[in-house]
Formats: sequence, structure tokens, C-alpha cells
Amino acid sequence: MANVVSGTRGLMKAPARYTIAVASGKGGVGKSTVAVNIAVALAKSGARVGLMDADIYGPNIPTMMGVAHLPPAKEGRIEPAEAYGVKMISIGFLVKPGQALIWRGPMLHSAIRQFVGDVNWGELDYMIVDLPPGTGDAPLSLAQTLPLSGGVVVTLPQKVSLDDATRGLQMFQQLQVPVLGVIENMSYLELPDGTRMEVFGRGGGQQLAESAGVPLLATLPMDPAVREGGDNGTPIVASDPDSPVAKAFVELAERIVAQLPKDGEAGSSVDIKLVG
Ligand SMILES: Nc1ncnc2c1ncn2[C@@H]1O[C@H](COP(=O)(O)OP(=O)(O)OP(=O)(O)O)[C@@H](O)[C@H]1O
Ligand SMILES: [Mg+2]
Repeated sequence: MANVVSGTRGLMKAPARYTIAVASGKGGVGKSTVAVNIAVALAKSGARVGLMDADIYGPNIPTMMGVAHLPPAKEGRIEPAEAYGVKMISIGFLVKPGQALIWRGPMLHSAIRQFVGDVNWGELDYMIVDLPPGTGDAPLSLAQTLPLSGGVVVTLPQKVSLDDATRGLQMFQQLQVPVLGVIENMSYLELPDGTRMEVFGRGGGQQLAESAGVPLLATLPMDPAVREGGDNGTPIVASDPDSPVAKAFVELAERIVAQLPKDGEAGSSVDIKLVG
């Protein structure tokens, strides 16, 4: 990557008016899918949108957005890739596909700082950050790097993912990042006869939101087209905007925007004390 221009400590100027982190306690619940589709939905609404793939262990944004390479760097700065009107950066652009990535905490920290400081984002309205699963170094580094306007937590409806999702919520609270709400993904599968099969149980998102006193922002259906769109690099919000699931993503993006503080100022400006 380009040389580090940003140092390793202290809050940097955010490229976007609002920075929103997408987290979960558990892996594979749909964070990246949500991040991609809300980014595309916001861009379609006319906003200037960036998408930062902070999952440097398993970067999925390039595949999900259908872009393999960054454009050439300009004047020593990284030019973001762009698709569906969304500017993006991912470690996936900088390593071979499938290559195992072993990072030490400080390397992760400086990667995130470079994603903020060395990428030619221009002025953005929204930066969506796709976090890796769990409550590890990435969210901490992110919160120490730039002011976060808010975080959302993705969960499945099943009770067993509640404990994990609760940890995700508490992580934001510890980082002093306002929790904008909970997103329940794969809430049901609509069968051809119109009945709804609750593959992963029911009620988890509502329960989590209630216990934390935050809104339940969406209950997103399970739809094979969502998975196909992710694998093919054609987010459902762009490829089939009239489908119920695409509309649910657009509505989710609107709800997230409605939760943001109107002055654009972030809640978190972090001086985090690490315990243990
Ligand atoms: N609503 C949905 N309907 C159908 N498939 C979905 C839905 N949401 C996500 N998926 C699929 O589930 C899989 C996991 O989703 P995704 O990669 O977004 O999860 P993640 O939480 O980002 O995972 P990780 O923790 O590994 O980063 C992907 O194949 C994705 O296409
Ligand atoms: Mg992911």
C-alpha cells in the first residue's frame, strides 16, 4: 500500500459527514450483504457514498460489488474503486483472491488508518463500514481512527445468536458509538404458496432491540436472489429494485438515515481505556 501519511494515533478527519459501522457478534449473519445494499440504496437516492471494507481477514466487498481492482493511484494517493455509484476500498483489492491474511493488531490499525487517510474519497455524505465478525480489534481501531456517527448490529432471529449480538451492541456502547438500531436478517423465507417459513426461528431482533432500548430497523427476508447477487457482484438493490427484499433494504437505509443526528456530528470521539 501507499506509504503511511497518517500516523498511528488520534482521530482523523472523517471523509464523510456520517460514518456508520455495520457489526454483528456472530459471523455469517449478513453484515456485508447489508453494508453493500444500504450503500447502493443511499447512492441511488443521490447521496455521495463510500464503502469501507474493514474486514481485512475475509474481505468480501470486492466480490459483492463486482469489482476486482482499484484504478491506478493518483499523485501518491489511492483512488477508490467505484461501482453502482459507491466508492469503495478493501484489502481484497490489494491481495490475491483467496490469499490467507495474517495480521497483527498494529498492522490492522494502520490499514484502517490508511483506508481513511490515504484514499482519495473526496467529499462524502455517508461512509458505510463493513466490520469483521465479533468484537475484536477492527471496531476498536475504527473508533480510534475516526468519529463514528453510529453503529448497527445485524442478527438472525434465533435466540442463540442473541448472546453474540448483545456483545456487538455492548461493544458499540463501550466505544461510545451510538447504536442506531438492530437489523434482523433472514427473518423468514417466503414459499411459493405465500406462507412464510421461519428458518431461523423468530423474534430475536425484536428482543435484542427491546432489551437495548434501540429501534428494530428491519426484518429482512431470506431470498436466494440476495445470495446470488452477492456472489455475482450485483447487489439486489441494483439488480432487482422492485423485489420485496430490495425494497426492504431501501427502507432500512431510510430508517438508518432517520436515526442519524441532524448536525452530522459524531457521537464518539474516543479516548478508550482498554481493560484486561
Ligand atoms: N437476506 C438474505 N437472503 C439470502 N441470503 C443471504 C441474505 N443475507 C445474507 N445472505 C447470504 O448469506 C451469506 C453470508 O452473508 P454475509 O457474507 O453478508 O455475512 P457476514 O455477516 O458479512 O459474514 P462474515 O461474518 O463472514 O463477514 C452470503 O452468502 C450472503 O449472500
Ligand atoms: Mg462480512
